[in-house]
Amino acid sequence: MLSVVEQNRLRISKNTPSKKKSEMGQFFTPVTIAKFMAGLFKYDSFKGSCHLLDPGAGIGSLSCAFLDRCVSEKFSFKDFNLSAFELDESLYSEMKASFSYYSSLFPLSYEIKGGDFIEKATDMIHKGYTKEFTHVIMNPPYKKIGSGTNHRYLLSSVGIETVNLYSAFVSLALEMMRQEGQLAAIIPRSFCNGPYYRSFRNFLLQRAAIKHIHLFESRNSMFKDDSVLQENVIILLEKGSKQESVKISCSTDDSFSDFREFFIPFKEIVSPYDRERFINIPVLPILENSGSISEELKFKNSLQDLSLEISTGPVVDFRLKEHLRKMPEQNTVPLLYPNHFQQSEIQWPQPESKKPNAIERNSDTERWLFPKGCYCVVRRISSKEEKRRIVANFLNPDYFNDFDAYGFENHLNVFHENKRGLSVALAKGLTVYLNSTFVDDLFRKFSGHTQVNATDLRQLKYPSKAALIKLGEKIDSVPANQSDIDNLIKKMGL
Ligand SMILES: C[S@@+](CC[C@H](N)C(=O)[O-])C[C@H]1O[C@@H](n2cnc3c(N)ncnc32)[C@H](O)[C@@H]1O
Repeated sequence: MLSVVEQNRLRISKNTPSKKKSEMGQFFTPVTIAKFMAGLFKYDSFKGSCHLLDPGAGIGSLSCAFLDRCVSEKFSFKDFNLSAFELDESLYSEMKASFSYYSSLFPLSYEIKGGDFIEKATDMIHKGYTKEFTHVIMNPPYKKIGSGTNHRYLLSSVGIETVNLYSAFVSLALEMMRQEGQLAAIIPRSFCNGPYYRSFRNFLLQRAAIKHIHLFESRNSMFKDDSVLQENVIILLEKGSKQESVKISCSTDDSFSDFREFFIPFKEIVSPYDRERFINIPVLPILENSGSISEELKFKNSLQDLSLEISTGPVVDFRLKEHLRKMPEQNTVPLLYPNHFQQSEIQWPQPESKKPNAIERNSDTERWLFPKGCYCVVRRISSKEEKRRIVANFLNPDYFNDFDAYGFENHLNVFHENKRGLSVALAKGLTVYLNSTFVDDLFRKFSGHTQVNATDLRQLKYPSKAALIKLGEKIDSVPANQSDIDNLIKKMGL
């Protein structure tokens, strides 16, 4: 049956206009991934009663993989119910045909529920259905939920504050599950860090134990047909259970041919000292080198330990429009955007650029400016195609000899010492460290998105100030070449 489901998936995916796909979040799960997800549920859970939930069910591929596992492993439940929620009625006939096939093999009662899952689920929670489901399998839609929308209002009414459909679907499902029920989901890894998903992380970690996280090493391998650019993880949660070590597994793609797994102590996944509760998913090189991520713990220093601070560039251009100038004039200072930092060099001013190059220095703008000095500047947005997520630049004040201050635009992060510049050696050393492959691996562990926010950089651990200064003293300029950077880090024994 699964091969029929897979053929339907490919056909429907091919015939669905991309506009509809992205509006409805219709990216259906390939059968290999569906089978893998169905295989995650613990063996012991396949007895007694089962009420399976599949929210945003599409053509029902995930439920079918679950049902198929029941057939092939000869599981039989005392009673077996399936609730599939799907907004798009045009998918019901495929789903119905597949479910009917399984219900001819064993006693299964299934329901395909139309309408919006958020509306239906919040209504169910209000009516007291909070111990309904024993198993949940989902590939939910991904889409931002704006503040002030009906979805936000409904979610708040059941104590859920979250910013995306996928985290809303997971939260609602968790709320409706029985104790020890298991939930397998394939979702973007953006929830693992960043301020926007803080309440979701708290919600999840308060209610469930993370049992297993699977990573795909090469991006896009999962949804080749739909060329989705999200980085996804597969996660298995168990409601109300004690948190033990977490199984982390990885494979290059959805064939799972090079599947590897490791057990990592939970305190290395979510540090007990971290108020943000970032979920650090180890990356393969670190796992393979050490079998654990404890290697990196030798960098214990926080930014505070280095007496450094990080700020988002305070100049929000549209708010200060009247003070911005295309090119430097009298009484202006450089206004720096990411485009002024190109491959470890400063290119300013850029007369061709659409962005302004200068900001007037006056009583309205003074508080948004930084005084002349050496800074380490990190772009807030990298592209997925860029080799490194963190792109740091050394801002050399000699380049701007004629100016006593700078404006940093909001798409940059800037490291400073109490709103002043750093020593030359420290700024260079820090820039090299941040541009290293080591930091890139570390960063990718907890960041699934392409944004590098000040909170993320505050979360990183750093070598000592003395080590960074020593590193900076060794070099005339910050190398552009990755292997030169990594060699410097290696030589320093960092
Ligand atoms: C990412 S697809 C996954 C489909 C299916 N679970 C799978 O794995 O192939 C998400 C599905 O959720 C449906 N959907 C989107 N918004 C929804 C909503 N608010 N309520 C119910 N279903 C929704 C879409 O039509 C789509 O079929």
